[in-house]
Amino acid sequence: MTVHFIGAGPGAPDLLTLRGRDIIARCPVCLYAGSLVPQAILDHCPPGAHIVNTAPLDLDQIIAEIRRAHDAGLDVARLHSGDLSVWSAMGEQMRRLRAEGIPVSVTPGVPAFAAAAAALGAELTLPGLAQSVVLTRTPGRASSMPGGETLTNFAATGATLAIHLSIRNLARVVADLTPAYGATCPVAVVYRASWPDETILRGTLADIQDRLGDNIQRTALILVGPALAGEGFDESCLYAAGYDRRYRPQSADSPWASWSDDAEAQG
Ligand SMILES: C[S@@+](CC[C@H](N)C(=O)[O-])C[C@H]1O[C@@H](n2cnc3c(N)ncnc32)[C@H](O)[C@@H]1O
Repeated sequence: MTVHFIGAGPGAPDLLTLRGRDIIARCPVCLYAGSLVPQAILDHCPPGAHIVNTAPLDLDQIIAEIRRAHDAGLDVARLHSGDLSVWSAMGEQMRRLRAEGIPVSVTPGVPAFAAAAAALGAELTLPGLAQSVVLTRTPGRASSMPGGETLTNFAATGATLAIHLSIRNLARVVADLTPAYGATCPVAVVYRASWPDETILRGTLADIQDRLGDNIQRTALILVGPALAGEGFDESCLYAAGYDRRYRPQSADSPWASWSDDAEAQG
């Protein structure tokens, strides 16, 4: 018996991985975080599966459900939205399960920030503008932030920021970021990326609050940084015509000219 943690993706049912789908299809028990996992993904459960929405359960109750499946020798598909590596609460469940000797596996999913970038048609790392993406959040009712992880600290890097769980803190986000990024810095808010009611708002740090109004209160990502402009960046060297590289040696003298996959494999 194994508990399979599966990233269910950002919303669109066809953004589930094939591996995730196949595991769900063979698990007689499925626990899913009902607030963000789409119902259509549950259609992959086998007939007669025991399906539990864990949104109203506390951690003890979730572990009790898993323990019951374990005692009966039944595999569990445990679904969380997006990917499991960020804000999934997988860590606390896994710690309990490991303490009880219950085996686990992890299958990644498409994270919300990637779905939001896709909705915008944006690359978040554009040469000369930004080469890092910071996945972060602001403090919430249930979660404080470690001391060094402030928006002002991240803003000092100039990186692209993907700010989660913070749409209700937009005023604070704008106030913290404007000194470093400037009022004209582009901002995008993507609500429910990949869902049928996906909504995109673009603006700047100066006007994004007015553009947003009170319309969007949850399940949105705030993306901030010069790369969101999608212009004013350099082309990468990788595809430059004269760039000497392994797949395109520029002369017989190139160190890449005699390179082969075999040579690489041999170190
Ligand atoms: C508890 S976190 C889950 C993050 C998830 N594990 C991931 O990999 O993206 C929930 C937050 O992620 C963001 N989020 C999740 N799904 C989203 C979507 N489809 N569109 C925009 N933001 C989303 C929002 O900021 C939301 O408040």
